[in-house]
Amino acid sequence: MGLSKFTILAVASYFTLNFLMGQASVVPSLEERCPTEQHRLHYHFTPRRNWINDPNGMVYHNGIYHLFYQYHPYSSGRGPMHWGHATSTDMIRWEEQEVALYPDEIGDCWSGSSVVDTTNTTGFQTDPSIEPLVAIYTSAGGAGQSQSVAYSNDNGETFTKYAENPAIPNPGINDFRDPKVSFIKGQWVMTLAVGNKVEFYGSPDLKAWTKISEFGADPEEGNHCSVWECPDLFPLTVDVSGNGTDIQELWVLIVSLGCGAPTGGSGTQYFIGNFNGTTFTSLPWDDQQWLDFGPDNYAAVSFSNEPQGRAIMMGWMNNLKYGDSLPTITWRGQMTIPRSLDLRLLDKDTQKYRLASWPVEEIKTLRPSTPKLKSDTEFTIPMDSKFELTTSALGNPAMELEIWLNITQNPQFSICAYNTLEEEVCFGYDGSKWFLDRSKSGNTNFNGGFAETLRATADRQLSTLDIAIRMFIDVSSIEVFVDDGLTVMTSLFYATEPLDQFYIESGANLKVNNFTIWGLECTFLEDDTVPLP
Ligand SMILES: *[C@@H]1O[C@H](CO)[C@@H](O)[C@H](O)[C@H]1NC(C)=O
Ligand SMILES: *[C@@H]1O[C@H](CO)[C@@H](O)[C@H](O)[C@H]1NC(C)=O
Ligand SMILES: *[C@@H]1O[C@H](CO)[C@@H](O)[C@H](O)[C@H]1NC(C)=O
Ligand SMILES: *[C@@H]1O[C@H](CO)[C@@H](O)[C@H](O)[C@H]1NC(C)=O
Ligand SMILES: *[C@@H]1O[C@H](CO)[C@@H](O)[C@H](O)[C@H]1NC(C)=O
Repeated sequence: MGLSKFTILAVASYFTLNFLMGQASVVPSLEERCPTEQHRLHYHFTPRRNWINDPNGMVYHNGIYHLFYQYHPYSSGRGPMHWGHATSTDMIRWEEQEVALYPDEIGDCWSGSSVVDTTNTTGFQTDPSIEPLVAIYTSAGGAGQSQSVAYSNDNGETFTKYAENPAIPNPGINDFRDPKVSFIKGQWVMTLAVGNKVEFYGSPDLKAWTKISEFGADPEEGNHCSVWECPDLFPLTVDVSGNGTDIQELWVLIVSLGCGAPTGGSGTQYFIGNFNGTTFTSLPWDDQQWLDFGPDNYAAVSFSNEPQGRAIMMGWMNNLKYGDSLPTITWRGQMTIPRSLDLRLLDKDTQKYRLASWPVEEIKTLRPSTPKLKSDTEFTIPMDSKFELTTSALGNPAMELEIWLNITQNPQFSICAYNTLEEEVCFGYDGSKWFLDRSKSGNTNFNGGFAETLRATADRQLSTLDIAIRMFIDVSSIEVFVDDGLTVMTSLFYATEPLDQFYIESGANLKVNNFTIWGLECTFLEDDTVPLP
C-alpha cells in the first residue's frame, strides 16, 4: 500500500514550498512533527479525527498489517459505525487509510474480523497473484444484528460487499454479533457473541454457515455480568514440564464484557481449554482469568495470519464506563500497544494456567540508540524514602521505563510518573497486591469514578525474586507489564501537562539492580494537510 495520501501530500507541499523559495529541500525532522495537541498520544494508534472503538479485522496480508476499527467519520462522538482502516509494516507505525466499509441498507458495520482466503474457498478471487482479504462483520440495522461478508481483491484498498448479505440472518436474538473467524481443522470457524454466551459456526466457504456448538450458557462458566462481546479463539502451546520435554497445545477463548472486570467496568476475560474442531471445553475457570488488570483494555482480539505464528492482540484502550466522555476534542479513542501472548502453567495439580502478555519485540524500534537515563549499578532505596530517578528534566511525554528489582522481603513501593504541577500516576506493590493509582492524575472530573486506585492480585508470592517492570507512558496512557507478563495494567489519564519525570517511593528497603529510561519516537506525525477544525 505504501505511503498514504496524507504523507504524499505533505511531502509534496514541503517540496513545492522549498522549490518556490529557491532553497535546498528541508523536510521537517520527526521530532518537529510530533503531536502538540493536548492529550494526543505519540506512539499509540489514534485516528487523526473523530470517534473510534473496537479494533476489527486485524490481519497480516501480503507484507502489510491491517488494522480496521469501529469508526464514526463525522464526529468525535459515537454515530453510525463504519470500518476505519490503517496499515503498517510493523504494527507500531500506522498510516490511516480511506474508510473501508460504509453502512448500507441492512445496517451499520459493527465489529468483526478478517481472514486471507489463500485457496479461494469463497470464489471471490479475481487476480491469481493476490489472495482475497475477506471481512466478516456484524450488520446492525432494522432487521436486527446479522453477520455479513465483504472482500477485497486489491490488498485491502477497496471492499465489495457479498451480494447475498447477510450470510447469517438474525435468528430473533437481540445481541448477536462480533464474528471472529479462523481456519481450524479443515473448515472456517466463526466464534460469535450471542447474548451472554458464545456460539460457534462452521463453513466451507465463508458464505454458508452452520451452527456447530456453543459455550458459556452455564452461569458457572465465567463472568456473566453483562452480555458477552468480541470473542476470539486461538491455540497456544504450553511447556507443561517446565523444561521443554512436554509441550502441549491448548485453546484460548477470549470474551470481553461490559462490567464485572477486576477494576470495575468493562474488561476481557479468558478461558483455557480444548477445541476439537466443533466443541470448546474449558478447564476450571477462576476469577483471576483476565487479560488485563487495569481498566482500559477492551474488545482485544488477535491478528489473523500473523507471519511468525504469534498470538498478538491489541485492544481498544478505554472503558465502557466513561469511554464516551474522554476529555479529548478532535478525536476520541485509542488502541493499546500490540502484545504477544503466551500460556503458562502455574500449578500442575490444580491445572492453573495463565495467559501472559508482553509488548511485541517491534516496540523496541521506538527506542533511540541512546537512552535518556540508565543505571547498571545496583543500589538500595532505604525504607520510607523517596528517590528521584533523575534531577534534570527527562522532558519527554512518551517514555519507557524498564527497571529490575531484587525483592528480598515483602515489598511496598510505588514508581510514579509526574510533572511539575504534581500530577502523577503511580504503579507499585502495596505489600499484597499490585496497584495503579491515577487519583491525582490531573483531569479526573469528567467521570465520577475515574480518580481511582486500581488493584490486582499477584498470581505468585513475591519473595526473593528478580523482577522486571516495564512501564510505557504516552501522554495520556500508561501500560505496565510485570511478573513476566502475568500482570498487566493499562490505564488512561488526563494530566494537564505530560508526566515526564519519575520517582520511586519505598516503604521498605528496595534493592534496584538496574534501570533504563528511553524517550520513545513518536509515530503519530503532525500533518499540515489536515488542519485542526
Ligand atoms: C476463484 O473461484 C471462482 C469460483 O470458483 C473462479 O471463478 C475464479 O476464477 C477463481 N479465481 C482464481 C484466481 O482462480
Ligand atoms: C523434565 O521435567 C520433568 C518433570 O517436570 C521430568 O520428569 C523430566 O525428567 C525432566 N527432563 C529433563 C531432560 O530434565
Ligand atoms: C468434540 O467434542 C464433542 C463434545 O465432547 C463431541 O460431541 C464431538 O463428537 C467431538 N468432535 C470430534 C470431531 O471429535
Ligand atoms: C538478589 O538478591 C539475592 C539475595 O541477596 C541474591 O542472592 C541474588 O544474587 C540477587 N540477584 C541479583 C541478580 O543480583
Ligand atoms: C538488569 O538486571 C537483571 C537481573 O536482575 C538482568 O537480568 C538484566 O540483564 C539487567 N539489565 C541490564 C540492562 O543491565
